[in-house]
Amino acid sequence: MAVVGAGRLGTALARALAACGYEVRALVARRAGHARRAVELAGVKALALPFARLEELPPSELLFITTPDDSVAGVAERIAALRNGRVRGRVALHTSGALSSEVLAPLRARGFRVGSMHPLASVSDGVAGAESLRRAFYCVEGDGAAVAAARRVVRDLGGESFSVRAEDKALYHAAALMAAGHTVALFDIAAELLARCGLAPQRARHVLLPLVGSTLENLSRTPPERALTGTFARGDAETVRKHLVALRGAGEPESLLTYALLGGRSLRLAARAGADAGRLKEIARLLAEALGIAEE
Ligand SMILES: NC(=O)c1ccc[n+]([C@@H]2O[C@H](COP(=O)([O-])OP(=O)(O)OC[C@H]3O[C@@H](n4cnc5c(N)ncnc54)[C@H](OP(=O)(O)O)[C@@H]3O)[C@@H](O)[C@H]2O)c1
Repeated sequence: MAVVGAGRLGTALARALAACGYEVRALVARRAGHARRAVELAGVKALALPFARLEELPPSELLFITTPDDSVAGVAERIAALRNGRVRGRVALHTSGALSSEVLAPLRARGFRVGSMHPLASVSDGVAGAESLRRAFYCVEGDGAAVAAARRVVRDLGGESFSVRAEDKALYHAAALMAAGHTVALFDIAAELLARCGLAPQRARHVLLPLVGSTLENLSRTPPERALTGTFARGDAETVRKHLVALRGAGEPESLLTYALLGGRSLRLAARAGADAGRLKEIARLLAEALGIAEE
């Protein structure tokens, strides 16, 4: 196999697959130094190539394109224009969550079977990332043979795969972002509000973590309407009113709007769990007021 885009994910993937017995033949980065560092971090004996020397890419049955989303199409075109080696039966997979396998059409035209293989994992470096890739869920889609190859790779890594339609990839990726990136953003808002109560920023993050951890544990055991605890689950309208006054007083429209928007979803969950309809209606009125919209 070869990896074009030996950054965080490319390096982690090379390291994890090498540990499962895959032969990593080349790692390509834009800069030569980064390619060399990736080879070192992945712990493999592979060719370290700068993108400018792409024509030296050795032919391999499995090619991963792990460059940033915006460059995948251009990189596919560059590889398709290379004149080296046999192509029939080779598989090219990119790892973008938002793009479908169609972005690799230039490679399909050259005889590659193309697909995408996106890990639902957050990889911030090649070494720790290799570990998280081993127990991740992967979304795979594309040509039949490419999907079969991707599923094999995922199985070898010890992960689990599932599929979505190519046209649903952007929506799929928005869902992943809500669960990961937006959870981090929400956590940051909460920590900032605690800091306004006088806690040092690091302490604020520290005291919130077990709360987030127990919420995730609840979610792993029960559906969201059962995992929801607290003010909205109880229908405590007076407490919501106090929260909104405090958030307005903090002079942070972003926090107020986030609270009110997510509050709407919490109301639906509380209703599903059987909370008192009259109390939820009063909370809905308060939230609509905070959002500056007329209540439905
Ligand atoms: N990291 C994650 O947690 C994660 C998780 C799931 C999916 N993904 C997907 O994996 C892909 C890579 O993400 P990443 O986080 O690993 O990115 P990254 O760390 O920024 O690495 C990108 C790699 O591509 C090279 N590169 C950058 N621009 C290029 C271009 N125009 N042409 C050729 N090569 C280029 C970089 O070379 P230099 O280092 O020399 O600049 C580097 O080797 C993306 O599609 C991303 O959506 C990432």
